[in-house]
Amino acid sequence: MMLNADTVLFAVLGDPVSHSLSPVMHNQALSDVGYNGVYLAFRVKDIGKVVSGIKALDIKGASITIPHKVSVIPFLDELDDTAEKIGAVNTIINRQGVLTGYNSDCLGAVKAISEKTAIKDKDVVIIGAGGAARAIGFGIISEGGRVTVLNRTVGKGEKLARDLGSEFQHISNLKKTKCQILINTTPVGMIPDTDAMPVKSDDLEKTMVVMDVIYNPLKTRLIKEAENIGCMTIDGISMFVYQGVFQFELWTGKKAPVEVMKKAVLKRITS
Ligand code: ATR
Repeated sequence: MMLNADTVLFAVLGDPVSHSLSPVMHNQALSDVGYNGVYLAFRVKDIGKVVSGIKALDIKGASITIPHKVSVIPFLDELDDTAEKIGAVNTIINRQGVLTGYNSDCLGAVKAISEKTAIKDKDVVIIGAGGAARAIGFGIISEGGRVTVLNRTVGKGEKLARDLGSEFQHISNLKKTKCQILINTTPVGMIPDTDAMPVKSDDLEKTMVVMDVIYNPLKTRLIKEAENIGCMTIDGISMFVYQGVFQFELWTGKKAPVEVMKKAVLKRITS
């Protein structure tokens, strides 16, 4: 794709941002559908100033990542209902100077799970109580799943459980908790500590569908142990790609080339 005076700009804003796989995924997708756009990464500290820049430069869409997902909210004009409930934004669209915030992590997780199994009326255990757990928790509840939050720090876990209207258990209590879908949102098992897993392997049951939001490595120890006993599994790439699919379709109005996006990300992870 030739860049010219009509090229539309998209961006990811965060700090750090150099590890982000979003530029590779979105640029490949833009080129695949023949959209005259480019997606760049910006390491930003002052999110308020940069959000004014989105309007000033007529940037069409932006991904928001750590540490700005919550602090960006006061600078936006509107919030979608889901993003408002979650209290975090990872996607902005600029419609003629009106900036609206969305949370595509939530929608991406729901899509990745729904591809493998229904969520409605299922007992879902979410390990962790940070931003990712919050986004996924609201997604599960909105699809009619029943959530139990399992966390190491009791106060933080109880707070998320309260906000979701769900149950809380300490992270050591998986065995005692009803669980049909298990989702790890903690960094336990991520490179370089790839031997670690957030729960005991003995506590996994083969009836569970097991998902990990970690995608480096692609197969975490949790996913490997779950596969070994015959569980259906969902790796972190699916959620990452589907949150990007939602962004792409929102920004461009075109159907996202899902397989192309997945391939672009996988190539970067395995190379
Ligand atoms: P994110 O926004 O990516 O979800 P976060 O807000 O830092 O990240 O949340 C990380 C979650 O992983 C927290 O729930 C954290 O547990 P605590 O509330 O006890 O801090 C959990 N976590 C991080 N490291 C962990 C570890 N080694 N064992 C268990 N849980 C861990």
